[in-house]
Amino acid sequence: MICSQIILLTFLLLSAIPASERKNSLNLMPMPEKVEFLQGEFRLDSTFTVSVTGGNEVLLNKAVLRILKRLTDRTGLFLLNLSPRIGLDDNIHGMLINSKSPGKNELEMDESYSLIIKSEEISLTAQTDVGILRGLETFLQLVDADQQGYFFPAIKIEDKPRFKWRGLLMDVCRHFMPVEVLKRNLDAMAAVKMNVFHWHLTEDQGFRIECKTYPKLHELGSDGFYYTQQEIKEIVSYAGERGIRVVPEFDLPGHATSWLVGYPKLASAPGPYSIERNWGIFDPTFDPTKEETYEFLEKFFQEMAPLFPDKFWHIGGDENKGHQWDANPEIQKFMKANNLTDNHALQNYFNIRLEKILNKLDKTMVGWYTDAQPNLDKKYVIQSWKGRNSLYESARNGYRCLLSHGFYIDLIQSTEYHYLNDPIPQDSILAEDVQNRILGGEATMWAEFVGPETVDSRIWPRTAAIAERLWSPGTVNDLKEMYRRLDEIDFRLEELGLTHNKNYDMMLRRLAGNADIDALKTFVDVIEPQYTYARDHPHVFKSYYPLTRVVDAARPDPRTARKFDQLVDSLIIHSGKNHSEMDALKGWLNRWKDNHSKLSEIIKKSPILKEIEIQSQNLSRCAVIGLQILEHIKKGIKPDETWINNQSEIIKNAQIPKGETELLVANSLEKLLNEVKSSDSRLFKP
Ligand code: ACM
Repeated sequence: MICSQIILLTFLLLSAIPASERKNSLNLMPMPEKVEFLQGEFRLDSTFTVSVTGGNEVLLNKAVLRILKRLTDRTGLFLLNLSPRIGLDDNIHGMLINSKSPGKNELEMDESYSLIIKSEEISLTAQTDVGILRGLETFLQLVDADQQGYFFPAIKIEDKPRFKWRGLLMDVCRHFMPVEVLKRNLDAMAAVKMNVFHWHLTEDQGFRIECKTYPKLHELGSDGFYYTQQEIKEIVSYAGERGIRVVPEFDLPGHATSWLVGYPKLASAPGPYSIERNWGIFDPTFDPTKEETYEFLEKFFQEMAPLFPDKFWHIGGDENKGHQWDANPEIQKFMKANNLTDNHALQNYFNIRLEKILNKLDKTMVGWYTDAQPNLDKKYVIQSWKGRNSLYESARNGYRCLLSHGFYIDLIQSTEYHYLNDPIPQDSILAEDVQNRILGGEATMWAEFVGPETVDSRIWPRTAAIAERLWSPGTVNDLKEMYRRLDEIDFRLEELGLTHNKNYDMMLRRLAGNADIDALKTFVDVIEPQYTYARDHPHVFKSYYPLTRVVDAARPDPRTARKFDQLVDSLIIHSGKNHSEMDALKGWLNRWKDNHSKLSEIIKKSPILKEIEIQSQNLSRCAVIGLQILEHIKKGIKPDETWINNQSEIIKNAQIPKGETELLVANSLEKLLNEVKSSDSRLFKP
């Protein structure tokens, strides 16, 4: 065949593939607003060069360097030009970047960009530098490979976010997170186009920022685990270079024990106070009736404000039960005298006083949804965590707001659950102005059950799906396609130093006492930590308890369990007639059937694993049931009622959590057994 015929044939083949299917071959997350395929591809070689015009030269230079470093590391290509060329220079083999203006890292920043890849050149243009940063991440996600090497598909992408506020909260108080943990998570946030780092800096269990005006705050309230102001500046700057705003949270008036350790006179009940070591909701609360409280907070905020250039400032405001207020006669007298009829009214009074202080510092207040916000300025931003109705109520009442309900990644819920948690669902009947007040949402990484070693595995990869929910059009909601791309993003995040996958093996090695981890991994791959609110029993947790058990190594929504469950669904849909599904299921079940005998040898030498011994045995028992069911299906003989009931008992037993973990495979087998049991089961039809 001559060359032109090959080209013609390739063209015909490519145009025969529907655009939607070709789109499904892209590993983009979040999916851009508009994607159009062009003809051909851009081949990558070591002469690849980037030229930058416009924007902030220093910021873009660093950003391009970071991207090219990841590109050279990923491809092994010895790129000749790792620094971008600055200024107009279009005579290159590579990418032309043009930023119309530096722009500002603020709520109203323009993050749109346009990326056009043709076989001879790539162009990335944006109104602002942040748009360029977003486009560079898309560019990197497009790298593909074939036998000839690496390439980018020819494509035209026009992209912009659906919501302005796409955040991740990190609680650095329940467990302290060193600077490098924050940096790698900021890198990951930038990789999936998130733009707000919500830094939960104070809690009952720790005061995590250096304060020069009132040094006893960090000296007595932190066990020595706090960020120096230099480190705060470093993180804010690091985030800013990645187009991420930093919103600090100083949680008040409750969740405040650590402040009161050094300054008990600010509390609503006499001290002394000590750092809280348990998890829960506690009584120590600021006294909102004393002028001294406001003088203290004003001076404190004055010192903190220059460290956090963002306009927004989170005052917490959650979970104040007001027990200390109820018990204090002076506070009760104050409430009567000021016609404050209940604790909500008193908290509202407190919030209004804080708002005045913050206004002087040119800060806009953000707070958790409470029932105490009737008279606040409409500038106040409400973060809804108690249910989406509070989101809509706040928006209807004229407040801008954020959704966090449904994005509580600490709770160990499935990626699918978070992904479908759309702040404005497709069928929403909210008026346009109400919709416009919904700024976006935030994933919340509360840190009762995570430390530096495990936190990445609770945030990632699920938060990438939340990032897509908040960036991409609401019509991008196909679950199968989301999971396909998530698996890709999951492993790419490791490139940035994220530890959610690599620490898994390390933790299993430690648990196995350096024995071969194969059997342990086979088991932990199909269990999940229990839903967090169920975990307090049987342990009453304390902040210094270990985070090194099987439940800590286990990960939310584990891939193997998910794939097995999908296979069971497919088997049922295809009436058990699909041989490849049958074989794949058998493969897993045979492996699990024999796993317990291997794992029990390791458990004998590693007492820390004792708590999952029964669970491991249950996995093997469930696998035997699964194999027997498949045998019945293959023979077309429905098992009798007694057999089914006996197996059902075994499976129910296996569903009882052990060592605070759940055996997910038991749920899939329960589904299969229920299908076998049903009178109109398709599995035994000829
Ligand atoms: C919260 O989860 N207490 C805001």
